[in-house]
Amino acid sequence: MSKRVYIKTVGCQMNVLDSEMVIADLKRHGYTVVASAKDADCVLYNTCSIRENAEEKVYSALGKLREAKQRDPEKLIGVMGCMAQKDQEIIFKRAPYVDMVVGPGQLHTIPELLSRVRDGQGRQMAVSLGRKDDKQAVVARSHETFDPLRDPSMRPTPFQAYLRIQIGCDKFCTYCVVPNTRGPEQGRPPAQILSEARVLAEQGCREITLLGQTVNSYRYATDGEDTDLAGLLESLHEVDGIERIKFVTNYPKDMTERLLVTVRDLPKVSPYLHVPAQSGSDEVLKRMKRGYTVSDYLAMIERIERILPEAAISSDFIVGFCGETEQDFQQSIDLVRRCRFKNSFIFQYSVRPGTKASERLVDDVPREVKADRNHRLLEVQNEIAKEENAKLLGREVEVLVEGPSKKAQDADSDQAVVQMTGRTHCDRIVVFDGNRRQAGQFLQVHVDDVSSHTLIGRVKTVEVVSIGL
Ligand code: SAH
Ligand code: SF4
Ligand code: F3S
Repeated sequence: MSKRVYIKTVGCQMNVLDSEMVIADLKRHGYTVVASAKDADCVLYNTCSIRENAEEKVYSALGKLREAKQRDPEKLIGVMGCMAQKDQEIIFKRAPYVDMVVGPGQLHTIPELLSRVRDGQGRQMAVSLGRKDDKQAVVARSHETFDPLRDPSMRPTPFQAYLRIQIGCDKFCTYCVVPNTRGPEQGRPPAQILSEARVLAEQGCREITLLGQTVNSYRYATDGEDTDLAGLLESLHEVDGIERIKFVTNYPKDMTERLLVTVRDLPKVSPYLHVPAQSGSDEVLKRMKRGYTVSDYLAMIERIERILPEAAISSDFIVGFCGETEQDFQQSIDLVRRCRFKNSFIFQYSVRPGTKASERLVDDVPREVKADRNHRLLEVQNEIAKEENAKLLGREVEVLVEGPSKKAQDADSDQAVVQMTGRTHCDRIVVFDGNRRQAGQFLQVHVDDVSSHTLIGRVKTVEVVSIGL
């Protein structure tokens, strides 16, 4: 029987990594990957529940598969990821032709579940326990990962990889579904993380990005030994072949002096900190239950500026959260102006069923006001990003080259000189004229021009061509 799988991934880096693992697993079970749902025997959606529109997109994509399934009932359709955990049976109700629903904690069962469907055992569902279904430890055990399986061909580039160090989240921000969909926070054992980093290095990976919802809260304790993120970075720094280490996403309260000093002292660790503020108003932060005030956040920024003066800091903001007044919103603008973030992701508040905010607070900011605040905050952020980037004009930056830029890919040219793109140590996007062979290399690039999102440069390093005798 032919086993051609197509996978569509939406959501955060966790999902990109999960899809990589699922594909590695399915390949071991004889599947091949195809580039379109049309050519596949099995179509998988790796889904996200963070905002309503992320879910609606998946439901509408599933709607489009209805006819394909009528024409070809053998085509298997699976929904995995956060929406699978959150909606469970609802998915079968809204799209009765779906064959499989699998939460992020059961991804290792996918090959088995698909073969059960093929064997005529009917549709299959595997999800974790809810947060209130049992004791914390039992719920935690129902969220399993299977990280060691890797597949370089599924990564955006083979020389960069995500490495999960923590699953779940215990922060329970009132707006957020993640503690429900991904379960209790659990650090992975350092020995496992290290051996995975070595495997990645052997596969030719030069940059790893450590993943966790609150990555700097990472903790792993066993008899007598207690490892935090700083300790883990020190061990990972020793792995030969890995040249750059990044980590996302940070929680403001856990940005310790010890961690910042470690980042400063380890040259492979990027001076780049994604540490979402979410709002610049104490009232809003309290309703979000973020656990810090604006002045705590600013004290953290000052710590970063003192220890890592060259670091790039980025943030997330939610606009239009319950009860947010124009004055509250102005305080978010003030915070962006004060912190001068490299970039900020700005989101309009979206009510999520099952969260505290959906039960106790009123979503009272009109849609148009949310859209307007989103636009205004982004404008301020873009202006600052451009000014910050302009400070790099005339300087040289070290770039890990990722490949042809979007523009070069769209042009689909086979010319020798193409626009290439990559990132600096502090995560800035750089474009320059180069050639495809440079992908995966570290190059010195001279910055000639900037926009708010990109540095435009020129390669300074002269390539040494060795002429064999
Ligand atoms: N764990 C990370 C981010 C998780 S989700 C952290 O704590 O920072 C990524 C971003 O989505 C969040 O930072 C937040 O800005 C946004 N987000 C989460 N829930 C949302 C909601 N209900 N509506 C709008 N944006 C939301
Ligand atoms: Fe969601 Fe807050 Fe956890 Fe981030 S820290 S995943 S925003 S609950
Ligand atoms: Fe979305 Fe789940 Fe990530 S809700 S943002 S895919 S953890």
